[in-house]
Amino acid sequence: MASLRSASPSGFLFLGLLLLAVVGHAVAQSPRERLSLNSDWRFSRFTDNPDQLSYATLKAWILPSSNDFITRAKYQRPSGISPGRNVQYVQSSFDDSKWEPVTLPHDWAIKGPFGAPGVSGSEGKLPYNGVGWYRKTLKLKSGDVSPGKNLYLEVDGAMSYASVFLNGVLVGGWPYGYNSFRLNLTPYAKAGDNILAIRLENAPNSSRWYPGAGLYRNVWLVKVNSVHVAQYGTKVTTPSVSAGSATVDLSVAIENTSNSTKRIDLVTEIYEVDASTGKATGDAKAKFKSVSVNVAGGTKQVVNSTTKLSNPKLWGPAPEQTPHLYVALSKVSAGGNGTVDSVETKFGVRTIVYDGNKGLIVNGAPVYVKGVCNHHDLGSLGAAFNWRAAERQLELLLEMGTNALRTSHNMPASELLDLTDRYGIIVIGETFDTWKTKKVDNDYHLLWDEWHEADMRSYVRRERNHPSIVAWSIGNEMPDQSSALGGQITTELQNIARQEDGTRKSTAGLNNAGPGTALVNALEIIGLNYQGEGKGTSWNSTYPSFHNRYPNKMIWGTETASTVSTRGTYIFPVTSAKTAVVGPSAGENVTTKYVSSYELYHPSWAASPDKVFIQQDNYPYVAGEFVWTGWDYIGEPTPFDNASRSSYFGIIDLAGFKKDRFWLYQARWRPEIPQAHILPHWTWPSRVGQATPVHVFTSGDEAELFVNGKSQGRKKTEKSEYRLRWDNVTYSPGEIEVVAYKNGAKWAGDSKKTVGGPAKLNVTADRTSIENDGYDLSFITVAVVDKNGDTVPQASNTISFSIEGPGEIVSTDNGDPTDMTAFPSLTRKAFSGLALAIVRSKPGSSGSLTVSAASNGLTGGKVIVQAGY
Ligand code: GAL
Repeated sequence: MASLRSASPSGFLFLGLLLLAVVGHAVAQSPRERLSLNSDWRFSRFTDNPDQLSYATLKAWILPSSNDFITRAKYQRPSGISPGRNVQYVQSSFDDSKWEPVTLPHDWAIKGPFGAPGVSGSEGKLPYNGVGWYRKTLKLKSGDVSPGKNLYLEVDGAMSYASVFLNGVLVGGWPYGYNSFRLNLTPYAKAGDNILAIRLENAPNSSRWYPGAGLYRNVWLVKVNSVHVAQYGTKVTTPSVSAGSATVDLSVAIENTSNSTKRIDLVTEIYEVDASTGKATGDAKAKFKSVSVNVAGGTKQVVNSTTKLSNPKLWGPAPEQTPHLYVALSKVSAGGNGTVDSVETKFGVRTIVYDGNKGLIVNGAPVYVKGVCNHHDLGSLGAAFNWRAAERQLELLLEMGTNALRTSHNMPASELLDLTDRYGIIVIGETFDTWKTKKVDNDYHLLWDEWHEADMRSYVRRERNHPSIVAWSIGNEMPDQSSALGGQITTELQNIARQEDGTRKSTAGLNNAGPGTALVNALEIIGLNYQGEGKGTSWNSTYPSFHNRYPNKMIWGTETASTVSTRGTYIFPVTSAKTAVVGPSAGENVTTKYVSSYELYHPSWAASPDKVFIQQDNYPYVAGEFVWTGWDYIGEPTPFDNASRSSYFGIIDLAGFKKDRFWLYQARWRPEIPQAHILPHWTWPSRVGQATPVHVFTSGDEAELFVNGKSQGRKKTEKSEYRLRWDNVTYSPGEIEVVAYKNGAKWAGDSKKTVGGPAKLNVTADRTSIENDGYDLSFITVAVVDKNGDTVPQASNTISFSIEGPGEIVSTDNGDPTDMTAFPSLTRKAFSGLALAIVRSKPGSSGSLTVSAASNGLTGGKVIVQAGY
């Protein structure tokens, strides 16, 4: 599918222009501007505090940034001179020419090196800690700062404890690094050059995974008139939907920052969104009754309207349903002065029922949840949000049959939700990994008391129009889950979700809470982590106890499996069990720090995929599962906690290469695709004559295995079997082949053969044509192949990458969790035969990018990528 770029900064402007073209009359006069502030920053990181500032000293000026999202008394900005004025970095006289020039989104830690002092393997060993300063000159016209204009800074994500200074004044900030925030720059801005300086600070030991560091999502400057649609000010819901008609309710919060009452008129029309371009298309499909109200100066007022949409095209999860989108274009005019603001709100028309017995029902049809959890990093690109990298993650998950994503354990970039809307992937939008009680010393518990309401409320308000979100998650495995406090917090957070949204239910990932807890009593959807399948070697499922107590509450496995493996690595002997706790004599190679890819091993609390499938099938009222995890991520390298840099949990490795499990999930989730997958590889010079188990994942129901043409027997998948195994095969070089059957007829096949030594490099690109906006990416795979062109499964040759033409290699990787070569390195070893390079064009430059890979003693290879089309 063509890449939809509307959420990249350049794509965003493009979308605006296209909307103008399509529905020019609706928005042509909009004075609202939303400009990317991603370019021309200077950055410096300090391991010692360079400025003597801290969140504690700045807090009183930062707390008022949460005022729009708290119901308790608003914070007053302290009077007098704000702290930090004397810090040289906030002053216009400071010469930052020696600082690093950077373009956002920027993750300051991702380039490494690995082994940062004080950063454990669970946080990815990368230098995310310390203080970081970003500086930029903001050029403003006199019209921008004239009375009647407002300037807002929108930061989609800053890791973490952001404090923002404009012309030396501390404007405000936001401590939770996963949330977005907006600050009003108007009182501190002037015509000409303004110095925008942002201070971030990351304490070590603040996360159980790699959090990233820096201004790692997009940053925007918004210019609006004094009468304008408030931040996250629109809400579109579809309270009743039938084939012939949908009721569409709209509410728009109008803000008037002037000091006089304004009479405003709100007009909103609905257009369809074209699925391939993501843009508004055609004529208006419906128009809301226009509304006129007086908005007093210095206030915000919510305006409601409703309309009917005939023959609505519904949003539903792929592949069974189609994710149709609409966009509501709202125009605000004030006091007969024409349009003062206009905004667009994308939404979908759909119904959701959460059924205690049938699971999730979308638009009347049950949708079995085939989900994965993912952390926010994008492999070797780090936490820096990139539209194409996120889209590639989803593309591979969709190929596997995934229809659901849990954004563990925090708010994702908004653009990820644009993608899930477009691709038809249902989402649990999660908020917190801790509440009031800590998991690690410097995690969110430090912010809980003062910030949890603002964080929950602003997130729900921001993302409530995304049809892909089907549930809010109020937390993951919170240490408070079983206490009375857990019940109170659940009630409070769910109430916030109801107030801001009210169309979805809330869930949480519970690993310990039992059916009798106050939390579970309050919680709307029961989400179980691991306990549903029975932890470790136990087969005692807790699903029945929850279901018996709450037969009408929907239950899903918010976190399942946590199987660990290293791509292409097979360790012998292989357990004969269906599920096995990983350890030095079970699946681990304690020397190499790899885990066997027979896909049976997991930590003590977890399970193999097979066991999860069995238990899910045993309890059909369970709505489905979210596997931990779809993709590997940086940090949390269980079971080699401090030795490695990245996780072993992913179905897909950090570089984006599929592990064997990919086909096990695909066989279950896309049974209609004829498919068979053999493991292990068949190049084992040291195993001649030894038992070498062969396992097959298939969407068939029967298969026959041949070793060098000799049948090893035909096997059927019996009840509770999700793989076929021939555990007593004796290795001899040659070829193994499987023929799979379904209902007695030939269905699919696979083979593996003994390959020769490395001879050359095969270089391929996922896309040979990319945009030249400086954001679009091509993912280049290098396979080390033998003279016949077959990938050498254990090849670890050192590969050197180079590029000619107007582009650059941003990073390289191979998916090896122990590889401590810094991600930007142009030299990288292949791992299990493969390596990856990620390429982008120079912004604005068009031409051919020739990406070459070379390795001593091998024939090199190259691929050409066209930039700018
Ligand atoms: C869960 C936790 C996840 C991850 C996972 C690893 O308990 O919620 O964040 O740590 O374990 O198995």
